[in-house]
Amino acid sequence: MDTRKEELKSILKKYGQEHLLNNYENLDEMHQKKLLDQIEKINFELVKSLYLSTKEENKTGKDKIEPIEYMDKFKLNDKYKYYENIGKKAIKEGKLAAVTMAGGQGTRLGHNGPKGTYDIGLDSHKSLFELLCDNLKEEGKKYGVTIPWFIMTSKENNKATVEFFEKHKYFGYQKDKNIFFFMQGELPMIDTEGKILIGEDGLIKLAADGHGGIYESLVKNGMTKKMKQLGVEWAFIGGVDNCLVKMVDPVLMGIAIDSKVTVACKSVVKANPHEKVGVFCKRNGKPNVVEYSEITEEMAEATDENGELLYGESHILCNLFSVDAIERMGANPLPYHVAFKKAKYIDKDGNLIVPDSPNAYKFEAFLFDAFGSVDEMAVLRVKREEEFAPVKNSDDAGVDCPKTARNLYKKFYKLD
Ligand code: UD1
Repeated sequence: MDTRKEELKSILKKYGQEHLLNNYENLDEMHQKKLLDQIEKINFELVKSLYLSTKEENKTGKDKIEPIEYMDKFKLNDKYKYYENIGKKAIKEGKLAAVTMAGGQGTRLGHNGPKGTYDIGLDSHKSLFELLCDNLKEEGKKYGVTIPWFIMTSKENNKATVEFFEKHKYFGYQKDKNIFFFMQGELPMIDTEGKILIGEDGLIKLAADGHGGIYESLVKNGMTKKMKQLGVEWAFIGGVDNCLVKMVDPVLMGIAIDSKVTVACKSVVKANPHEKVGVFCKRNGKPNVVEYSEITEEMAEATDENGELLYGESHILCNLFSVDAIERMGANPLPYHVAFKKAKYIDKDGNLIVPDSPNAYKFEAFLFDAFGSVDEMAVLRVKREEEFAPVKNSDDAGVDCPKTARNLYKKFYKLD
C-alpha cells in the first residue's frame, strides 16, 4: 500500500493536488484503499484543462446559430402512412430498443432517491419508471415484440434503482433478457483554485458527468454490442422525467430510415419564448441545440414573418439514433459544460465546510453536442399534449411539476 501511495503522491504533486492525501491516515483501511483507487482513476490532465476552461469566456457568442428545418408530424399528409409503414415494419422486425437516461436524482423535485422512482400522484401511484414501462409494453404488444429497455443509472443511484426494479419484479420485464442497466461516468468536483474536493466520507467528491457520456457508456458497458446481438438497429434515447414520452414512434423511425439520417429527433413548439427548454438550431452549419441557459433574450424572442418563434422547436430529449451512430459518437469525447454549485467538502484541516453560496465547479457533457458530428438530422414536430409532460420541479414552482404532469397524463389517457 505504501509504495502505491508514494507513487500516487508524486502524481498529485505534479498536478498540485497533494491535499487529497492530507486526511489519509485518519481513514479506515477500506476507505484508504478506495481513495487510492479513485486517485488512480482520475485523468488529471482532463481535470486541469476543465479548470482552465472555467476561466474562458463563453464561446457560444462566436458560433453562427441559425434556425433548423423541421417536419410537422401532422402536416405530412399521405407521407404519414408511408413513413409509418416503414417504421412499423422495422419495429415488428425487432429493430428498435429504448434507452432511458435515469442518472439524475430528484433533487429539484425534493425527492430523496432516483428520479424514476418518483410517484407523480396518480390514483395508481405508479412511479415514473412504471409509467414509462407501461407505454413500452403497450406498444410492444401492438407490434408483437418486447422492446428491449436499457436504463442508464449513475453511481449514486444505481443500487437504489436496481433494487426498486427488483421489488417491482421489473414490471414484467426480465433482467438481462430484455432489461439492461448500465452506469454513466463521473468527474471530480473542483474548487475555484482548481483543487479537487474531498467529500464528507473522506473520498474524492465525484459528480455525474452529464448525459453526454451516454454514447461512451453504452459502448464501454457492452450495450451496443448487446443491441446488435438482439438485432436492434435503432435506439430511442429519452429522459426519465417525461411521463408522456413515446419511445416507440413508427413515423419517426420511418422518416429516419427513409431519409437515411442516423439521428431523428422530436420537438414540440415552445410554450413561450422563455420556457426552460433547449431549442433545435444549426450551429456553424451543423445540427445542434441551444440550451435554455445559454440562449440570448433576443434569440429567444425572434419571430419569422408568420409570427412563429424562429427558435421554437423545443428539444424534449426524445432522440432516435442508429446503433452505428451511437458507436461512432462514443469514440469521440464531447466538450464539457461548467456549472457552479454549492458542495459540502472537507477542508485541508479535516473540517467539514457547508457553504451557503456556490463554491465548486461541476462538469457535464450534453448528449446533443454529438449532433454536430452528423451532417443531416431529421427534426419532427409532434403534439405537446401527446408527448411532453416533464416533471422537473416541486409543485411550488407551478410549472413542469408533478401537478402539471399528472394533469397532462390524465388528460391524454382520459383518466378523469
Ligand atoms: C433537459 C435538456 C433540455 C430539454 C429539457 C426537456 C439537458 C442538458 N437539457 O433540461 O435541452 O429541453 O430537458 O425536458 O439535458 N440525466 C442523466 N445523467 C446526468 C444528467 C441528466 O441521466 O448526468 C438525465 C436525467 O435523469 C433526466 C434527463 O437526463 O432524465 C434531463 O436532465 P436534466 O438535468 O433534468 O435536464 P433539464 O435541465 O431539465
